Amino acid sequence: MPASIPVGIVTVSDRAAAGTYEDLSGPAIEAACRAWLATPWHPVRRLVPDEQPAIEAALRELADVAGCPLVVTTGGTGPAPRDVTPEATTAVCDRLLPGFGELMRAVSVRTVPTAILSRQLAGTRGTTLIVNLPGKPAAIAECLAAVWPSVLPCIRLLGGPKLASTPEAPTGRPVPPSTTP
Ligand code: MTE
Repeated sequence: MPASIPVGIVTVSDRAAAGTYEDLSGPAIEAACRAWLATPWHPVRRLVPDEQPAIEAALRELADVAGCPLVVTTGGTGPAPRDVTPEATTAVCDRLLPGFGELMRAVSVRTVPTAILSRQLAGTRGTTLIVNLPGKPAAIAECLAAVWPSVLPCIRLLGGPKLASTPEAPTGRPVPPSTTP
């Protein structure tokens, strides 16, 4: 296992890629990984416009060349014509893991009714797990927390490195009721 694991973070946004606004979602993914991933790791960030070939190229490069066991994308999962992140993800993946998208939508819809508009999915490319998150910074921690308990076991099952979570990382188990009155 390398001394530091590369984690791919791909922001998909026409406006962020053009510099119209600051990318807040990529840094939010980085912050979540910093809080929850105990194994030494480093981010490999990419910022691409909503163009399917550009997204596919970034995903292939992060998986095949950079050797990231985990690639997380943000943005481009809605129903607007230029939202093509799920199409790019499907094109580069060997297999899809529908449970990731199902769970993230189920969790998000509790706070945002429009979360059913997200077509976010996850899939595998070789030993790399690719997970789509919506573009809104507020969606990052919520969605990634929901699937986090399955992310590291999935990478292991794929034959990737054995990564460890921090004690603060979401476990997916309900918080036990307080015993103090
Ligand atoms: N999920 C959470 N948790 N929070 C949100 O604000 N926005 C929804 C949905 N999922 C949202 C969310 C909306 S309005 C859309 S259109 C889709 O994510 C897709 O967003 P994207 O195109 O930025 O990926």
